[in-house]
Formats: sequence, C-alpha cells, structure tokens
Amino acid sequence: PSFVMGIDLGGTSVKLGLLYGDEVVARDQISTAHCEEPSDAFRQAREFAIDALRQNDATFDDLESVGLAMAGVIDEATATLMETANLHSWHGIGFHQELARVFEKPVAVINDANAAALGESSFGQHRTDSLSFLTLGTGIGGGIIVSGRPINGSHGCGGEIGHVTIDHGPDARRCGCGRDGHLEAYAGAAGIVQTAVELLEQSDQPSSLREARRSASRSASRSASRSAAVLTPECISDAAEAGDAIAIETVRRTGVHLGRAIAMLAHIADPSVVLLGGAVNFGGNRSRTGRRFLKTIHDEMARLSLVQTGSTVKIDFASLGNDAGMLGAAQHARQLARQRTLNC
Ligand code: BGC
Ligand code: NA
Repeated sequence: PSFVMGIDLGGTSVKLGLLYGDEVVARDQISTAHCEEPSDAFRQAREFAIDALRQNDATFDDLESVGLAMAGVIDEATATLMETANLHSWHGIGFHQELARVFEKPVAVINDANAAALGESSFGQHRTDSLSFLTLGTGIGGGIIVSGRPINGSHGCGGEIGHVTIDHGPDARRCGCGRDGHLEAYAGAAGIVQTAVELLEQSDQPSSLREARRSASRSASRSASRSAAVLTPECISDAAEAGDAIAIETVRRTGVHLGRAIAMLAHIADPSVVLLGGAVNFGGNRSRTGRRFLKTIHDEMARLSLVQTGSTVKIDFASLGNDAGMLGAAQHARQLARQRTLNC
C-alpha cells in the first residue's frame, strides 16, 4: 500500500484525509472562510500532509498522489471549473495546476458528488461497481458509477442530476444555475424551504412552521435587521417527526421530486443501488420521517419505471456521511495514478 491524500473542498469547510491503503490514518478540517483563494486551502492541506506523514513514520516523498473533490462542472483534461451553481467566485480557475504547483505531486480533480459516489462504492456499506449517488444539500449533486468508474462525460456534465428538469411549466422555479425547473430548485435545501413556505401560504392550517416564521418576523422588525432564514430542512424535518401536517407534506413532495429524477436516472444508467447522501436526510434510517421519505422516493420511482429496475433497485441512505467526498477524491487519485502507470 501507499499514502494518498483526499481533499474535499466544500462551501464552508475543507475536509482533509490521509489514507494508507484503504485506511484513513489522519484527518482534519479547515474553514473555507480563512481561504481567500483555493491555493490558501491547498497550502494548509500540504502542511497537514507533512505533519500527518511524519506522525506515521513517513516523509512527504511517500505521498503518492493527491485527489481534490469540489462542486461544479469540471473539465477533466484541464481540471478547470467550468460552471457552478453555488461557488460563483471560483469560475475558470485551473485547480489542477494550482494543486500541482502547491504539492508538486500527481494530482487529480473530481466533481464532489462523483467523488462521494466513488467513496461509497469503494468504502461504504453498499459496495458495488454499479451505483448512483445523490447528495442533498445547498445544491444537489449526482454521481454515477459504472463498472467501478464515475462518469464525468465529455464536458464534465455526466451525473449532474441536480440539473435535470423536473418541471417544464410556466411557473417552474429558477435554479441556482439560472435555468428553470431543475431538481435542485425543488429538492435542494432552499427548494425544500420554498415548498414549505408555499404550502403555508396556500392554507391556514395551524403549523409549528407558521409559528416559527411569525415569531422570527416579529423579532426581525423589532431589531430592524434582515430576517434570517428561519425555516431550514432540519426544522422541517423535526416538525414532520412531531406530526406537523405541512412539514410532512413538504417531505413527501421532496420525495416525489427526487423519485421522478431517479426514475430518469434508472433508465439511463440502471444502477443496482441509489444512495442519498449530504446534509439533508430527514433523520435518515433512524427516524420515521427519514424512512417515510425513502419510501416516497421509491414508490414514485417505481411508479414511473420499467418493472425490471422499478422493482429491484435499492434506494438507501449513504453510509459514509461527511467522509465520502474526501475518500472518493483519494480513491480517484489512486485510480488515475494506476492507470498512468499501466499506460506507460
Ligand atoms: C453542482 C454540482 C455539485 C452539487 C453539489 C450542484 O449545484 O452543479 O456540480 O456536485 O451542486 O455540490
Ligand atoms: Na456529479
């Protein structure tokens, strides 16, 4: 075995991990707030690697390669970030070059959700070489593993499930990327909140979510400050678990939207397993709301799908949590390094 490093560059934090073989021997997390540009994060990552290697009786020379995962459409040849819905300021940066300059090692850059998919398929509870993955958070990411490899596609758009269109109507919501009707605008964090707000405005049913909004707008007008985002997927999740009908309906609609997108995915990639990761999971398998959410997704997907995939595909929550992207980035770097050795 050898040492590889995985870096997961997120909107709020950067996760770092050093792997020896399949084992994470050191990990750390830094805040993106302290990073004006990506190379700040990479320099801190290098410091971490040097320390971590030393603690494992190794030196920087023993580090074989470095993998970086990040949101957005990444051109594989140049590893340039071509387009991203939620990290606007870093467009057009050649991450590959920056990373290679700081580390002076073979480096590989991969979309964050592709990385998480690869992480889950290589290290997670459902290890298989035919897996699709959706990450639910600010954005919705997707990763499709076919024959053990993530599909990046010809333009880096392979697996961008968050940007499939699920609403073609005139009132379709606007996505963070600027286009209309995309899944992300319905089942991303802000989309889920919007669904709840629309439901609240369409009815006068009592709801703890309505109370939360009222008291927040009262305190906002007292302090004359801008009202913070009062509703979050977490509070919707808690309210649903407590039996709040509006919250339950919000979770159900989110599941229906995802089920539709997954049905499309099933007819394109036909994975054996579909995993849901990311910060938004309505409590996961441990809560009734989470289990109900999964069932809604499954039922909607099956309703729209050919029998073969509809009745047999497994849909479940992912198992690696926050580590999936970092692990997948490291795995990707290792796969590429092997491929290069085989090619010469
Ligand atoms: C981006 C994807 C990313 C996902 C999750 C989406 O808006 O288009 O590239 O994987 O957010 O971060
Ligand atoms: Na992706």
